[in-house]
Amino acid sequence: MNAPTRQMPKHSADATTAEEGIAIQEEQAKFDSKSATDTAMQNTLLTPRFYTTDFDELDAIDVSPVREDWDRLIAQMEADPNKGHFKKDESWDHVDWEGMDPKLKKEFIDFLISSCTAEFSGCVLYKEMKRRGHNKDITQLFQLMARDEARHAGFINDALREAGVAVNLGFLTQKKKYTFFRPKFIYYATYLSEKIGYARYITIYRHFEKHPEHRFHPIFKWFREWCNDEFSHGEAFALLMKTDPKLTSGVNVLWIKFFLTAVFATMYVRDHQRPAFHNAIGVDPDWYAREVFTKTSELSKQIFPITLDIDNPRWQRNLERLHRANVGIAEGKKQGGVGGKLKQWTNSARAAMTFAALYTIPAKTHQVPDSPRLEPVY
Ligand SMILES: [Fe+2]
Ligand SMILES: [Fe+2]
Repeated sequence: MNAPTRQMPKHSADATTAEEGIAIQEEQAKFDSKSATDTAMQNTLLTPRFYTTDFDELDAIDVSPVREDWDRLIAQMEADPNKGHFKKDESWDHVDWEGMDPKLKKEFIDFLISSCTAEFSGCVLYKEMKRRGHNKDITQLFQLMARDEARHAGFINDALREAGVAVNLGFLTQKKKYTFFRPKFIYYATYLSEKIGYARYITIYRHFEKHPEHRFHPIFKWFREWCNDEFSHGEAFALLMKTDPKLTSGVNVLWIKFFLTAVFATMYVRDHQRPAFHNAIGVDPDWYAREVFTKTSELSKQIFPITLDIDNPRWQRNLERLHRANVGIAEGKKQGGVGGKLKQWTNSARAAMTFAALYTIPAKTHQVPDSPRLEPVY
């Protein structure tokens, strides 16, 4: 009798490891378009980056101080409630890409490429940690998170393929530039990107529950389960930070403030580059930003001792200024020549000064709870 051979799943949604998920996507890479991959390859302040870190330092973390919460979270992730979820089914509606307003189509494809790159950036980092580590707790967590992100990136790529474009993920892994971050910066940045990802997805999902007429693409129907994955990933980073009180006190609070400001400001500027997209989904990007900042701030109180004062009048004023500087930089690039360069420089200087103005708004402080544990309630 033959031993049963393990068949590779056909879809990245069914993959149980990141490697499997990526292999399935690579199979389809021959159909993928150059322009989408070129967009994903871009490294600017506003485009998602790939990260690398000191994996040995990360591997040395001892999770005993948070053991109870840790085991509960890992068991929940191992149960894998979203296995098989991230693929098209009968509720996937036909998308009229041909008939879509060209401006909306461009912005929406840009949104999908940027989301796919961000999801895949997490996958690459988590997978690498799993591969290099020896600490069972750490490798187990990172394998589970890489699995989820590979599914997310694969699913967005499926949606892109319908529009005749897709990102070549294998090529990206090999060729995209990697930015080195010390582990503590990885914690702050990744924790925040997971939690803000949750807040973004759930806010959109709730909006479409009230206004289904604005849901012009079926992928938004998947956002609830999706955001629950991101929520768990954020919980994991909160626990990692909880193992060492130094990470969230002293001078590190200034770093936390820096990352909060950078992550919020980047979201604001990036979303304001897509007016047609926000118009189509019936969302005012200023309202959306406020909603997401409020939710993310509330969540991040689980581990960070400060939150940004988004009610301070300087906050909104300087975000708008930052957006205008960003528009100026883009115009300068388009214009070219000496005049264009000058326009880019002056607006870059303006953007740097505006960021400093945002950073120096006094933060709000509060007492951090003993256990960071939270449930997704939005
Ligand atoms: Fe994700
Ligand atoms: Fe995630």
